[in-house]
Amino acid sequence: MKVLAPMAGITDGLFCSKLAPQGFDMVTVGGFNVDLKTVLAGKSIKERGRPEFDIPYNQILSFIEDQINIIQGTAWKGMVSVNLRSTTPSSIVEVSEIDGVDVVEINAHCRQPEIMELDCGQSLLHKPDDLYRFTRTVVNDASCKVSVKIRANVPGTDIINTSNLIEDAGADFLHVDAMKPGYPHADYKTISSISDQTDIFLIGNNSIKDVNSAKKMLKAGADGISLARAVINGEVPFNLSSI
Ligand SMILES: Cc1cc2nc3c(=O)[nH]c(=O)nc-3n(C[C@H](O)[C@H](O)[C@H](O)COP(=O)(O)O)c2cc1C
Repeated sequence: MKVLAPMAGITDGLFCSKLAPQGFDMVTVGGFNVDLKTVLAGKSIKERGRPEFDIPYNQILSFIEDQINIIQGTAWKGMVSVNLRSTTPSSIVEVSEIDGVDVVEINAHCRQPEIMELDCGQSLLHKPDDLYRFTRTVVNDASCKVSVKIRANVPGTDIINTSNLIEDAGADFLHVDAMKPGYPHADYKTISSISDQTDIFLIGNNSIKDVNSAKKMLKAGADGISLARAVINGEVPFNLSSI
């Protein structure tokens, strides 16, 4: 499976529509802040020059609906995922009820301080039991499939334990940004370890920019790959169908 990874402020409906037919099986819109606390945090993040984090609370669901409609208006027939920051599972469940949403992705990856202060985003990796409960509730209540996006090599966290808990919670996809600080490539060893110790569908992410890096990710044990920065200008720089 080839997935377009989320890039806040970039992966909107129009961007996804242009990228999707270039060989993607699933595209991700967002990430979006969807509960009141994260929406208010988005206002502070905007003041630091990141306007994409500021969509008003009373407009967020219709904004997401508009993005899905843009994608659904094309001939492409893959899956649409929505990457979401929220302090409550119920706001994510609400998004799962929008027509055309195939996957809701819980963002346990965001490093914006205002989001982390809410025990949201990457902070969830430091509270694996909370992440388990959060995921379990979304899985139980959502009207679509559930993905959880996490980051590798976060000091003080245990990615194997976290991955096992996400699998036990019943998520359909584990999306791993296998970032390896100081290296221009992904941490393939961590992907191998997760693949060896879980059965969940594993989407490997980070620094995939050509056939070689994509194949390495799959050889390490990922069931699918996702790309973000390599496609930031709207073009896939290699033939995805050759993977
Ligand atoms: C501009 C930008 C915005 C991003 N926004 C999000 C986001 O909203 N949610 C998320 O889970 N990841 C986000 N990411 C992370 C990417 O999805 C991806 O995990 C990361 O860039 C590593 O993959 P890559 O090497 O293919 O870019 C963002 C990345 C970039 C460059």
